[in-house]
Amino acid sequence: MAELKKRILTGLQPSGQLHIGNYFGALKPFVDMYEGYESFLMIADYHTLTSLKDPAQLHQNTLDIVRAYMAAGVDPAKAVMFKQSDIAEHTELAWIFECLVTVPFLMQAHSYKDKVARGLEANAGLFNYPMLMAADILLYDTAVVPVGADQRQHVEYAREAAAKFNNTYGQTFKEPEEKISDAVAIVPGIDGQKMSKSYGNTIPLFGSKDEIAKAVMSIVTDSSGERPEHVYAIHKLFKSEAELEALYEEKKGKYKDLKEASIEDIEAVVAPMREKYNSITDDEVKKVLADGATKAKAIASVKMTEVRQKIGVTL
Ligand code: ADP
Ligand code: TRP
Repeated sequence: MAELKKRILTGLQPSGQLHIGNYFGALKPFVDMYEGYESFLMIADYHTLTSLKDPAQLHQNTLDIVRAYMAAGVDPAKAVMFKQSDIAEHTELAWIFECLVTVPFLMQAHSYKDKVARGLEANAGLFNYPMLMAADILLYDTAVVPVGADQRQHVEYAREAAAKFNNTYGQTFKEPEEKISDAVAIVPGIDGQKMSKSYGNTIPLFGSKDEIAKAVMSIVTDSSGERPEHVYAIHKLFKSEAELEALYEEKKGKYKDLKEASIEDIEAVVAPMREKYNSITDDEVKKVLADGATKAKAIASVKMTEVRQKIGVTL
């Protein structure tokens, strides 16, 4: 008898151009594991609405992020790829959870606290963000949530939301576990800090060779050392350290040569993905998302029927 696969679900915000930090921290770990599970990949477009108010950009980013996961190796026949805004049950369930938790409890969320600490005004959507994420996860009886370390607390919130609902209305939701990919450390940017679109220090994942070259050439190097550490830190993601040791020994102090070698090694990995990425049409992406929405909806609507009955709104 075929063994039942555990269900995983993860969410991605369509918030901007992907970089190689996203590839090693999020895309690749998902691609490496998803076939061992019953997999759901959700585009969290309503979460992105908490920060992005440009409709044309949200539209484009959504198409691009699906294309990116397909180019990186996700086969849409083997994973349910859908977008949050297609399944109204997510926002509906989020509201129900919001009525079960307190304001001080939500005030503990890092996503909210960090914004306030930086002196920025948080919108109410950002404040309620963890409950929408809890709905994303719990609607599908998700067993495992693969996420970056920064999302650990949000999965805890999902467990709390499940427990609160179950205690109030009876057993309904499964408590999920997070799976933090620790294989890859934080990928540094061209300035040595964490690569992040908010720091403007990225190497674009699907940029042209020229764009990649431009970014690599501007990696900050410490003129006092023999080995450009920031170059090496990025280079070793694309080639084994054993191979690199010899090269860096031979080219000691020759930063330009080492940067050029790393451009070639990055290009060797990225070029086939870029080709695939550029070949996937908008219509193909829309078809994948429409199929995914049908599958996701079938599960989410059954769960919401049960929820509505339990809370007393079904007459
Ligand atoms: P950014 O910092 O550019 O805004 P996001 O916060 O949108 O990136 O991250 C999307 C995903 O990519 C998350 O799973 C995150 O953990 C991963 N990620 C982002 N930057 C890096 C990095 N420099 N190294 C490793 N993983 C990263
Ligand atoms: N908050 C996650 C992020 O910013 C994205 C996300 C939304 C998510 N819903 C999810 C991740 C459900 C995992 C499961 O990265």
